[in-house]
Amino acid sequence: MQQVNRFQISLLDEAVTQAVAARLALLLPEQAVLFLQGPLGAGKTTFSRGLLQALGHQGAVKSPTYTLVEPYQLATRQIYHFDLYRLTDPEELEFIGGRDYFSDQAICLIEWPERGLGFLPEPDLVLELSYHAAADEPVRILSIHGQSELGRSIVTTMSAHEER
Ligand SMILES: Nc1ncnc2c1ncn2[C@@H]1O[C@H](COP(=O)(O)OP(=O)(O)O)[C@@H](O)[C@H]1O
Ligand SMILES: [Mg+2]
Repeated sequence: MQQVNRFQISLLDEAVTQAVAARLALLLPEQAVLFLQGPLGAGKTTFSRGLLQALGHQGAVKSPTYTLVEPYQLATRQIYHFDLYRLTDPEELEFIGGRDYFSDQAICLIEWPERGLGFLPEPDLVLELSYHAAADEPVRILSIHGQSELGRSIVTTMSAHEER
């Protein structure tokens, strides 16, 4: 199968966002780094919630805007959900023990990775969420880029699924 390193999908509503997140969740190994980019309200936390729930998390998924990171110990996975929006200096990541999170066998979901550059590992996948004003409702697009061997193989599998 030819490798694809990028594909786009429209997120028609929240249910589609959750379904795409769930499909991605099931392709993730125990260790992976995902960047979630896009403006406030684009759906980064909604996507993260779909992913966590697909991996068995029950209950709320809050945006870790003030705590910067929220850990989830699930039956089969350790997940760290970051929101770096309020990070003023990437070095603050050192104070919250960033390196420990990143060296763990864990999945790191990182919202606002732009704010932590230099102190973050290279991502396997970059998820770029955007929305464009349309007639009455905004059109939301998710663009997925595979940036490692793992990331590219996930994107290849997902894009094959979407084309069917
Ligand atoms: N297709 C969609 N995907 C994700 N969220 C959507 C969608 N349509 C509407 N929404 C709403 O948009 C908001 C997205 O917020 P959130 O996920 O917190 O964004 P972010 O984390 O990027 O700031 C939520 O209130 C959600 O209900
Ligand atoms: Mg968010």
